[in-house]
Amino acid sequence: MSRHPLTRFAAKAFRLFEHLYVEIPYRLSRDKRWSFPPTHLFVSPTLRCNIRCEFCFEIEDIEDKAYVDDELTLEQWNEVIDRIPPRTLITFIGGELFMRKDAFELFARSAAKHRITICTNGTMISPEILDRLWTLVPKRPWKAGLLEIGYSLQGGEAVHDDIVRIKGSYQRTVRGLGYLQEAKKKYGNKMLPFTTLRTTMQPKNMNDLVHMYDLAKRFEVDTLDLQVLQDARTVREGWEHFDDAAELTSYEEEMDFDRFREILEDLTTRSDGPMVSFTPADIPVEEVVKIYKRTADLTQYRCVFPWTQHAIHPDGGLSPCLQAVFPDSNIKGTTIGKANQSDLFRNFRHQIATHGLYPTCMGCCGSRYIGPKHKATERSTVAVRHERPEPTEAPTP
Ligand SMILES: C[S@@+](CC[C@H](N)C(=O)[O-])C[C@H]1O[C@@H](n2cnc3c(N)ncnc32)[C@H](O)[C@@H]1O
Ligand code: SF4
Ligand code: SF4
Repeated sequence: MSRHPLTRFAAKAFRLFEHLYVEIPYRLSRDKRWSFPPTHLFVSPTLRCNIRCEFCFEIEDIEDKAYVDDELTLEQWNEVIDRIPPRTLITFIGGELFMRKDAFELFARSAAKHRITICTNGTMISPEILDRLWTLVPKRPWKAGLLEIGYSLQGGEAVHDDIVRIKGSYQRTVRGLGYLQEAKKKYGNKMLPFTTLRTTMQPKNMNDLVHMYDLAKRFEVDTLDLQVLQDARTVREGWEHFDDAAELTSYEEEMDFDRFREILEDLTTRSDGPMVSFTPADIPVEEVVKIYKRTADLTQYRCVFPWTQHAIHPDGGLSPCLQAVFPDSNIKGTTIGKANQSDLFRNFRHQIATHGLYPTCMGCCGSRYIGPKHKATERSTVAVRHERPEPTEAPTP
């Protein structure tokens, strides 16, 4: 078995804590506006990327060069990091983090005071980078430091290179996985850092998911995380436009749903390799299939993001939602605690709790499956469009 025996226990403990952290203010606050300060921040220091995944919810911004000019400098990031309450969990995402030459310096500053995790496509990882990252790994998961390194890969070689639209990408990520395995051995195969292989589930890679499990097992990765594909191309226009994005892509013609269910059931019952998890967390297999069939009942899901997590964009933009941008909200002029209790954040919590999830939220990692026991919300109905939107063009490598 490749995973560390405490991986599952740590994941469960984390979920239980998160559940209570959301549930207490949710129940106590009648208008659902109040919450504790966030414990988990998703920080994107850059939206530059060296590959062009056709499904990526950031793809339009990755193409938008304006974001590069607006990126906070290392100095500005350091100021932001220093003002975040100690021991906050910071997940660094992007963009591809290592497109920033100063990525390590930013991680080091953050890991001195906070618990951090990094999410990378792995193509730029070298043994030297890993040696430096290992200097940030703490002895215990509740201590400040680097807790997790996660790589994203979308299938076997042909499928991955097709989806990310740059030839040779699969080989580069797999090389990075090899370096990660060597580093773990070199530093004594300790529980930390947790290692994760992430893959979205989509028609093109459905038959490659078993290969992903085998790959994670071969490289002794702790967790294979299967991510529900979020059809989130239009929400960047602002959350007032969530309802305009009500039409979701249909997978009916491209996916054999029974076969999909079989594959997921097989993978989630295996015990000889990595732990298999889903994003959104703890979602049952049947619900995953329903999301792809577009028959999932949105009233059986709750958004937890603004109660426990916030997002910080490359220009310092601060958001209570993983998908929507709020042009007037920026960390530069405030603190996390103040922003969390601002009208914008309070109203967003009220709105999402009373309205319920929007179709575009389906599959978002900020949502949780709560099952049929719920109070009715307004929620919008799901419409499905049958042709897939054209992906944006791949750049010349
Ligand atoms: C936006 S990427 C940024 C970090 C890094 N470049 C990477 O790919 O890991 C963070 C994660 O979001 C996932 N992701 C991107 N677009 C998605 C979508 N439309 N639905 C679900 N997950 C998505 C990727 O698979 C990746 O694991
Ligand atoms: S590597 Fe990550 S940020 Fe880059 S396009 Fe793919 S999913 Fe998006
Ligand atoms: S589930 Fe929550 S965080 Fe995710 S897109 Fe919907 S409102 Fe935003």
